Amino acid sequence: MTEQSLFIVKPDAVARNLVGQVISRFERKGFKLLKLKMFTFTQQQAENFYGVHKDKPFFGELTSFITSGPVVAAIIEGNNAIATTRIMIGATKSFEAEPGSIRGDFGLGFSENIIHASDSQESFDHESRVAFE
Ligand code: CMP
Repeated sequence: MTEQSLFIVKPDAVARNLVGQVISRFERKGFKLLKLKMFTFTQQQAENFYGVHKDKPFFGELTSFITSGPVVAAIIEGNNAIATTRIMIGATKSFEAEPGSIRGDFGLGFSENIIHASDSQESFDHESRVAFE
């Protein structure tokens, strides 16, 4: 089923010049890039984007990291985009993510984990609204 998803190349990956390599994995997989945007999250945008985590103990760390430098947001389209993208990015803790996944191949961090991707249709709707507003 053709579907859209969103991913954000996080500040750690942008600072390490990995944007092209990350985006190219999605192109190579067969997804079509529909929208692409480089920007820096404001504090308010970050709190809105990560609203589902607002009561978590790591919320402050998360918003301070995601606002710490420019990110690249993308909307992609293709078969089963939401679930397939989650498989491609790998486990949240980069140091435990499977080799072959994006986090598994590029990172070692937890907060600093290279990439975010929508995990449901509902989060795609919310996150794409915030990132491309
Ligand atoms: P992401 O996929 O962007 O969604 C929420 C983020 O919160 C997650 O990636 C991690 O970077 C971060 N995160 C989740 N749990 C923790 C935690 N226990 N400590 C620090 N950061 C966390």
